[in-house]
Amino acid sequence: MRSSMVVSAFAAVGAASSSVGNAFAPSQVRLAYAGDKGMHVSWNTQHKVEIPIVRYGTSPYRLDQIAFSDVSVTYPTSTTYNNHVKITGLKPNTQYYYQPGFSFASKPYTFKTSRKAGDCEPFEVAVVVDMGTMGADGLTTHGGGHPLQPGEINTIQSLQASLNEFEFLWHPGDIAYADYWLKEEIQGFLPNTTVEEGAKVYERILNEFYEEMAPITSLKPYMVGPGNHEANCDNGGTTDKVHNITYDVSICMPGQTNFTGYRNHFRMPSKESNGLENFFYSFDHGMAHFIQLDTETDLGHGFVGPDEVGGSENEDTGPFARYMDQQTDWLAKDLASVDRSKTPWIVVSGHRPWYISAQNKSSTVCWECKDVFEPLFYQHNVDLVLSGHVHAYERIAPIYNLVVDPNGLMNPRAPWYITNGAAGHYDGLDTLVRPLQTFSRYAEDSAYGWSKLKFHNATHLTHEFVASSNGTVLDSATLYKARK
Ligand SMILES: *[C@@H]1O[C@H](CO)[C@@H](O)[C@H](O)[C@H]1NC(C)=O
Ligand SMILES: *[C@@H]1O[C@H](CO)[C@@H](O)[C@H](O)[C@H]1NC(C)=O
Ligand SMILES: *[C@@H]1O[C@H](CO)[C@@H](O)[C@H](O)[C@H]1NC(C)=O
Ligand SMILES: *[C@@H]1O[C@H](CO)[C@@H](O)[C@H](O)[C@H]1NC(C)=O
Repeated sequence: MRSSMVVSAFAAVGAASSSVGNAFAPSQVRLAYAGDKGMHVSWNTQHKVEIPIVRYGTSPYRLDQIAFSDVSVTYPTSTTYNNHVKITGLKPNTQYYYQPGFSFASKPYTFKTSRKAGDCEPFEVAVVVDMGTMGADGLTTHGGGHPLQPGEINTIQSLQASLNEFEFLWHPGDIAYADYWLKEEIQGFLPNTTVEEGAKVYERILNEFYEEMAPITSLKPYMVGPGNHEANCDNGGTTDKVHNITYDVSICMPGQTNFTGYRNHFRMPSKESNGLENFFYSFDHGMAHFIQLDTETDLGHGFVGPDEVGGSENEDTGPFARYMDQQTDWLAKDLASVDRSKTPWIVVSGHRPWYISAQNKSSTVCWECKDVFEPLFYQHNVDLVLSGHVHAYERIAPIYNLVVDPNGLMNPRAPWYITNGAAGHYDGLDTLVRPLQTFSRYAEDSAYGWSKLKFHNATHLTHEFVASSNGTVLDSATLYKARK
C-alpha cells in the first residue's frame, strides 16, 4: 500500500512537472517540531500536490526514506498550496538530511530533532515577535515609521548570521505583516498597486516574507503563535490620502479573515500536546517545557479574545475552541503534567503583554489575558513569560498580581516577564510610555532586536536582547532558580 502509493505519486507528479515547469518547485520550506521523534516539514507549491512527499535520511547522499501525506491546502486568492508532511519514527537530537517534494537538483536541507525531555545539555533559542517582511514591501531604508539606515542589518539577516547558535526560532505572533499592504498602499509606499488589487498585494507580501525566512526555517524549527496581524482587517483605515478616495467597505482579504492564511500555512505540535491547531500547544526540548498560548481568541472565563466578535479590536474572528474555557482547562492540565525533574524550566509565550509601560486604557495592555492566565502561571511556578505586540523591548521584574517579587531574579516565587516586539516591520518601533512602570527593569525602544534564551542548566537561564544592526547584546539578565 505504502510503496505503491509513493510510486504512483512519483509518476503523477513527475509527468505534471515536466509539462508545467516549476509549479511543483518547493518554496517557503519550513520545519516544526512534532515530538522528539518527529518533524513537520512544510513547503509551498504553485500547484496542488496530490501526495506531498519528503525524502530523508541520515546521510546527505542517501535520502533513502520517504514520508508522505495528503495535505496540500489553500484558500481563495492564495497563489500557492501549503504542503505538510509529518515525519515520524526519528531519533531525538539527531541530524537528518531531507528534501521536500521533487527537487532532486539542489543539495538536501538538514534538520535536528528535538532534545528528549531530561537531556540537560545547555542550548539556546532565538525568539522574535512582531517581525514582518523586510525590503521593498516592508521594512526598508525609506518610508514607514522607523526606516533602516542605509546598509543596516535587519533582524532576519541578524538571525541568519547567528544560525549556528540557536536550536529553534520561536515567533509568537505578528508574522508577515501582510495586512500592512493597506497602510503601505494608502501611504503611497507601494508603486503600481491599487486598493482593488489588495488580495494580490497581500498574498505577494506573505509569499515574500516566508521566502525571506526560508534560509532559517528550512534548517531550524520555526515555532509560531497567533498575533493580531494574522487576522487584522482595515489596518491603517480605509482612506487613501494619496488618491483622495475613501473606501466605505470593510477591507479584509481572505488570507487574513479569521486566521485563514495562518491556519493553512503552519502545523504546530498541538496533536502531540492535546492543544488546538496553531493556536495553543506545548512541547519539551531538553530541560525546558515550552508553551504557546493564544491571546487573540478563546480566552474563556467570560472573555472573548480581543480579535473576536465583541472583543476590544473585533476582527470578526474565532471562536476556535470547542467550548468557552478550553484554553485555560488545557493550560492547567498541561502545566500540572510537567515533570520538573526532567524539564525544570517552563517558558510560556503569548502575543500580548500585560506588564508593559504602555497606556493602561488602550487595548495594548491585555488585562483580560492577565485575568485568565496569570493565576495558572503563578500556581504552577512558570519561570518566564514572553510576549510582544508592543514594538519595543522591556524587561520586567518577576511579578505576580502587580506586586514585584522581593527576590528579583535570585530565586523568585513569581514568573519573570519580558516583552520584545522590536524585531521590525514597515511601521517601525513604538515608544514606551515614560516614566516607565515601577516594575520595569530595562527598556529599549529605539533599536531593532531579537531575544536569545540560554538554558545553562537546571538553575540558570539567561535572556539577552540582541541588537539586530550589529549583534551587540544590549541587555543580559540571568534568572536563578533553586531546584531540589
Ligand atoms: C511602476 O510603473 C512605472 C510605469 O509603468 C515603471 O516605470 C516603474 O518601473 C514601475 N515601478 C515598479 C517598482 O515596478
Ligand atoms: C472562524 O473559524 C472557525 C473555525 O472554522 C469557525 O468556527 C468560526 O465560526 C469562524 N468565525 C467567524 C467569525 O467567521
Ligand atoms: C549597536 O547597535 C545598537 C543599536 O543601534 C547601539 O545602541 C550600540 O551602540 C551599537 N554598538 C556598537 C558597538 O556599535
Ligand atoms: C549553572 O550554570 C551557571 C551559569 O553558567 C553556572 O554559574 C553554575 O555554576 C551552573 N550550575 C551547575 C550546578 O553547574
